[in-house]
Amino acid sequence: MTFTIFFATSTGKTEEIANRLTELLPGSEAKDVDNLDSSDELVRANALICCIPTWNTGADEARSGTAWDDLAQEIPNLDFTGKSVAILGLGDSSGYSDFFCDAMEELYTAFLQSGAKLIGKVPVTGYTFESSKSVIDGKFCGLPIDEDNESEFSDERLAKWVKQINSEA
Ligand SMILES: Cc1cc2nc3c(=O)[nH]c(=O)nc-3n(C[C@H](O)[C@H](O)[C@H](O)COP(=O)(O)O)c2cc1C
Repeated sequence: MTFTIFFATSTGKTEEIANRLTELLPGSEAKDVDNLDSSDELVRANALICCIPTWNTGADEARSGTAWDDLAQEIPNLDFTGKSVAILGLGDSSGYSDFFCDAMEELYTAFLQSGAKLIGKVPVTGYTFESSKSVIDGKFCGLPIDEDNESEFSDERLAKWVKQINSEA
């Protein structure tokens, strides 16, 4: 399965992680959703990894503060039936412990409504945080990456997750 990696970023950390994913997934490419011609580019991908930071702390909606916020409104009206979609979130589990990687859930729910097959959920074990809207039925709905406090774990988390999504796609 060839994944296209879509990301948005404010300070570059999510872009850096998206680029590291391309190294783990030969043949994949990373695209900044700020530069999409239209949301059809998402639909044209065979399988998607969507990388989203959380900035709009505590917000009910538009939690990313990036171009993903508008796309999350459009995605439920697009047809992703049966298409594999994995979500990856950047956040700060120490400074924003009550809202850790909250934005992942908005994309997750939008893609669920579009008919996508959501892959890449991960256990909360190994993360220290108070609360996250992205924990659904006891699991994160995607892979949280914390470059602010736990960058030493990122390579291992990414490698393990890539194996998982390759087997689930
Ligand atoms: C003003 C501000 C608000 C933030 N809000 C949250 C938050 O609610 N939840 C969270 O997990 N991280 C939050 N973060 C941390 C960022 O998501 C984190 O630094 C991330 O790596 C940034 O990714 P980017 O460089 O791709 O934009 C916030 C950071 C700042 C500076």
